Amino acid sequence: MTALPTVLGIETSCDETGVGIVRGSELLADALASSVDEHARFGGVVPEVASRAHLEAMVPTMHRALDAAGLTLDDIDAIAVTAGPGLAGALLVGVAAAKAYAVSVGKPLYGVNHLSAHVAVDRLVHGDLPQPCVALLVSGGHSSLLLVQDVAGELTSLGATVDDAAGEAFDKVARVLGLPFPGGPYIDKAAAEGDPSAIDFPRGVVRDAPYSFTFSGLKTAVARWVEARERAGEPVPIADVAASFQEAVADVLTARAVAACREHGVGTLVVGGGVAANSRLRALAEQRCDAAGLTLRTPPPKLCTDNGAMVAALGSLLVERGAEPSALDFAADSSMALT
Ligand code: KG4
Ligand code: ZN
Repeated sequence: MTALPTVLGIETSCDETGVGIVRGSELLADALASSVDEHARFGGVVPEVASRAHLEAMVPTMHRALDAAGLTLDDIDAIAVTAGPGLAGALLVGVAAAKAYAVSVGKPLYGVNHLSAHVAVDRLVHGDLPQPCVALLVSGGHSSLLLVQDVAGELTSLGATVDDAAGEAFDKVARVLGLPFPGGPYIDKAAAEGDPSAIDFPRGVVRDAPYSFTFSGLKTAVARWVEARERAGEPVPIADVAASFQEAVADVLTARAVAACREHGVGTLVVGGGVAANSRLRALAEQRCDAAGLTLRTPPPKLCTDNGAMVAALGSLLVERGAEPSALDFAADSSMALT
């Protein structure tokens, strides 16, 4: 093995088939195939459709990643794969593929946690993470605030959504507004023309859980507001609704993330997940972190959404510290715990 391990990461927990290759903390390749278009007409990810798409995309995506890095499987020192949490059938495809590749080339295999990988990817851009830090992970499938004592080991959940994930709320509100799926980027774009203070949408709080989130009340409030307009025969100001909704989401996410950093005496906030691509969330996080004297680390949008590089980034940390590989009979775990 060279001084810095070359690790290949496989991600299939939702609708993206990702294969990334990392050497140490250097990104060598990040190949992606997405089935998002196949889910568009259903307004959400259909698990069986996602699993089948992973099956079809797995081998071509692997070849693209190896070609991009100019490597063959024999050059890879270890393979890492998302073992959970995620869609059971989708995870199964990646885990089965990773086992087959690992066995065929006789390389160690690491089953890793998807949320930890979302945090670990930032080391490819900004270098090793100061630890402890707080991570805000917001996507279509999860919304969590984590205390990261050790990204390759101990993470503690400070709070999570009790209903919709933040991205799910974006997708559902987009549907109400007649915007395409996935709705986040369309809301972001529409909001740029709107007034974020036009409508005072609710900021949901979860009783006795200061770092948890609830978005179902907000989503319902937007739907009711739009329905009332339509009933009155008045046009719906899509840009204002989008901007006001986006403001409510960005407000609660950033306020709670900054409060969590303060309470835990942590100086760095990492924001990841697909919703971290949101322009208002990024701007407000920056503004509030600056005001609180916190360092904000946000990977570029391409590394915020699901991808194989994040799995490789976590895998290479595990290899570097000499962690024991997973036994080959480990199972995909759709509700995998954090440790
Ligand atoms: O992390 P990701 O690619 O997949 C998982 O869900 O795990 O995140 C996708 C989610 C979708 O809900 C999408 O609407 C949202 O991220 N998203 C955004 C933006 N770009 C993607 N939400 C708000 N603003 C954006 N610019
Ligand atoms: Zn994700």
